[in-house]
Amino acid sequence: MSNYHIKHLEEYFKVYRKSVREPEIFWEEIAEEHFLWRKRWDKVLSWDFKKPEISWFEGAQLNITENCIDRHLVTKGDKTAILFEPNDPNEKAQHITYNDLYKKVNQFANVLKQQGVNKGDRVCIYLPMIPELAISLLACARIGAIHSVVFAGFSSTALSTRINDSDCKMVITSDGSYRGSKTIDLKGIVDEALESCPDVKNVLVAKRIHSEIFMKEGRDQWLQPLLDQASTECEPTLMDAEDPLFILYTSGSTGKPKGMVHTTAGYMVYTAYTFKNMFQYKENDVYWCTADIGWITGHSYIVYGPLANGATTVIFEGVPSYPDFGRFWDIIQKHKINQFYTAPTAIRALAKEKIEFVEYYDLSSLKVIGSVGEPINEEAWHWYNDNIGKRNSPVIDTWWQTETGGIMISPIPYVTPTIPTYATLPFIGIQPAIMDDKGKELNGNQVEGRLCIKFPWPSIARTIWGDHKRYKETYFSTFENNYFTGDGALRDATGYYRITGRVDDVIIVSGHNLGTAPIEDAINEHPAVAESAIVGIPHDIKGNALYGYVILKEIGNTRDQNNLRKEINQIITEHIGPIAKLEKIQFTNGLPKTRSGKIMRRILRKIAGGDTSNLGDTSTLLNPEVVKEIMANVL
Ligand code: WT7
Repeated sequence: MSNYHIKHLEEYFKVYRKSVREPEIFWEEIAEEHFLWRKRWDKVLSWDFKKPEISWFEGAQLNITENCIDRHLVTKGDKTAILFEPNDPNEKAQHITYNDLYKKVNQFANVLKQQGVNKGDRVCIYLPMIPELAISLLACARIGAIHSVVFAGFSSTALSTRINDSDCKMVITSDGSYRGSKTIDLKGIVDEALESCPDVKNVLVAKRIHSEIFMKEGRDQWLQPLLDQASTECEPTLMDAEDPLFILYTSGSTGKPKGMVHTTAGYMVYTAYTFKNMFQYKENDVYWCTADIGWITGHSYIVYGPLANGATTVIFEGVPSYPDFGRFWDIIQKHKINQFYTAPTAIRALAKEKIEFVEYYDLSSLKVIGSVGEPINEEAWHWYNDNIGKRNSPVIDTWWQTETGGIMISPIPYVTPTIPTYATLPFIGIQPAIMDDKGKELNGNQVEGRLCIKFPWPSIARTIWGDHKRYKETYFSTFENNYFTGDGALRDATGYYRITGRVDDVIIVSGHNLGTAPIEDAINEHPAVAESAIVGIPHDIKGNALYGYVILKEIGNTRDQNNLRKEINQIITEHIGPIAKLEKIQFTNGLPKTRSGKIMRRILRKIAGGDTSNLGDTSTLLNPEVVKEIMANVL
């Protein structure tokens, strides 16, 4: 029996039990039978969550691009690897075969080498959803450079912070990007960012929108002419299993973003294995994940997971609303998409539009429809299941995180019976635990608490770039000997998991993970602002929207409050990006604080959300009188 492809529930339980009973033997078999290694490992796993230190397949050597490209050439050279669907539906879709991809990645890798990029160097990638984006990741991986993709919706300040944090020596970008009917001046944002990044010596610019842009002499070069001159052969650099593959930033509870470090072998094995099972991928299927490659979903389930399985993966440049709200469904019909993976926020937004936008298209190619990024509410789940899957394609509600590298808890389609809002069962090899507030594991079923994982899996992030202490504090200090996810969860009577949402200072807005601290830091930069606190309020499309409480320096400030609100949102846009803008801003004279000076967000959240019936215990507050004021002025 191959444990690689799970087809029945009994098989799932059997393989799951094996993966828990004998994890090393189990993962060794998976690794051995399904991947290309240049040197075998000495040890499958060593770990210590106390330090924390985790290492998989130690001693092994490989190159992930050989697994994602080279090994498929004999049997699948002419198969489409990447199917590019442009922003404009009238522009022709592009089919990049595995043979093409091999050449393109090698050319790009040779350019990187010529430009002085070496193994272990960090390369920042700030590109729209065009083929060059996926190719640049693979080109870095080909030569062992560590890619750090920054989502191209982030502002110049957010970009420069990330470039400097991991000391990137090169930036790969484009002249601009298309987004629906708009164009965005990406290169301008990079130029601004680089004013505070003295170590970046090299900028490669892909041409996409053909706009007139500034090219800095001695620093900026057009990518295409360099590619044209480069050889299509590039020997893959041999990587150790635990060599870093990439850094990807995620928000946390302090202002500084966390550069999560993923390493080579374990990440490859886990993303490939989960891709195969979660999407039940078959040889001629066309798979589409709508995420941006700037997020972990795109890294794992647009690029590495699908390509490691020799799949056809779609890259869509545009947005769901352009040229109209039928675009997703149009693409599904046009490319006969078999597996579709998107976010609850997109589902909710599209569900609000006329159903004719859906009904107009033939969606009968679909076999699996997935959801990721935040809890999917029951209404959205049913809309998705009824109208997109036609109750014929299982909805997989996949729970995971940037830090976990791959899907952790999710139904396996055609294997696990689904229930709306439940992520259902842990994937093979994943050992969740639910903890009470005191750190005791709640055994048995029908329990609710904080979600931890008690045993390592191959694609867990190994550290935070340059800050191992923070890695330990954030993930391994709350519950001893456990990885703490930051999420709440319950396990029902049948052992199914339901994720109940973040229990820390992270708010998920339209599927984007936003820490409250960086937003508050940005607001506090405004000269008129003394202090601020952000909470999430329910929003019917975004899931959550941001509600800000702001204390002004001068009480009774006479300036136009709406103007001030605009300025505050402007500062947030400059520091983080438009995704972090506040929906509502309430000016207040104070914030409820505990005696130790901590803002009681629980109270602020309830008031902002319009639920003041039971504010809970306010006896520990230093200044209970502000609660009344805040309640009286709530927006
Ligand atoms: C947080 C991680 C994983 C890729 C995209 C997000 C929330 C994610 C689900 C889900 C409930 C979910 C969690 C998690 N989340 N998927 N299916 N059900 N919550 O990655 O930006 O690192 O965010 O997203 O709160 O901790 P991320």
